[in-house]
Amino acid sequence: MHSLSAQMLDSFQRLICERCLMSFTQSRLGKLKTHLRHRMGVNELSSYEDYYRLLKKDENEFNALIEDIATKETYFFRIPGQFHAIREYLSPMIEKRLLDNSKIPPLQGDTNKFKKTPIRIWSIGCSTGEEACTIAMAIMEGIKYPHVHDVEILASDISRQALNKASTGFYEASSLKKIPACYKTRYMKMIGDGAVIADDLLRKISFRIFNLRNLDPIRDGTCLFTRLDGTVEKLAVFERFDIIFCRNVMIYFDFPSQQRLVDSLYECLKPGGYLFTGDAEILHIYKHGFENIRYKETNIYKKPETINFSGKGKEIWTIKSCLKP
Ligand SMILES: C[S@@+](CC[C@H](N)C(=O)[O-])C[C@H]1O[C@@H](n2cnc3c(N)ncnc32)[C@H](O)[C@@H]1O
Repeated sequence: MHSLSAQMLDSFQRLICERCLMSFTQSRLGKLKTHLRHRMGVNELSSYEDYYRLLKKDENEFNALIEDIATKETYFFRIPGQFHAIREYLSPMIEKRLLDNSKIPPLQGDTNKFKKTPIRIWSIGCSTGEEACTIAMAIMEGIKYPHVHDVEILASDISRQALNKASTGFYEASSLKKIPACYKTRYMKMIGDGAVIADDLLRKISFRIFNLRNLDPIRDGTCLFTRLDGTVEKLAVFERFDIIFCRNVMIYFDFPSQQRLVDSLYECLKPGGYLFTGDAEILHIYKHGFENIRYKETNIYKKPETINFSGKGKEIWTIKSCLKP
């Protein structure tokens, strides 16, 4: 195999960053080189220049490399405080707001007569689905009138392999360790050594392939998502979500992409909506209009209910919000 020049390595990094925002710190460059060598072996190529040319023109090969490079680590109840916050604090509050707005009398029998407003959540970079399932469980535990509300969770990732696994709803025993016993009983069915997510919980989650590079909801408020059967779907994202989880994803992006993503996530939340990020993704290094609130030990970012004109960042959001379709 030929040697990899610094210039060629730089070209690979630029191409990957341009197409899917991932950037490589010094410590992750070794991993990139290993995956490049592996994919070159699969394609029976010995020249990095030839592989670069292939990568540029062949979308399937690019996707295969990204499948290898993407860090997909995840598990149920990762950062448990976030799910306690959803169950004890956010779900009751969101539920109250929906009930106040829709005037649904929750105790009346026939709720079909009333227009239901779904509680909408987006789990971005959901990997194999554990995060989306944990959110669904926490919401169902936290709302008082589950028969009144639809809970819709959009769970997206760039990795088709991860989403294919997520859509089965099956998890091996090793993935189940952190799930409290009562949640296992209510929302899972044990099968052999593993467990499958209960149908009515899994039905609340729509798994879609989505590259965050294409998140630009300002133009018409929609983005193109790909279903697991390969068909494409246009989904509204602008001011759509009550809660967004974007954890341990932007940590792999370069700074300008992180800032753009933070801006877009703000646009995608309803006024008064909440954003959860990973432990290492604290927003104070970006310009943003979120309020930082704490529930017990947990950091939560809230889009203000009403946007005021004080504060530098907030003026930007107000101008963009005027473009609402
Ligand atoms: C470490 S996992 C995070 C899983 C989960 N959010 C959690 O915190 O447990 C990061 C995920 O981000 C996804 N990802 C990386 N770049 C992406 C991009 N440009 N668009 C969408 N997803 C991306 C990866 O495929 C991977 O599944």
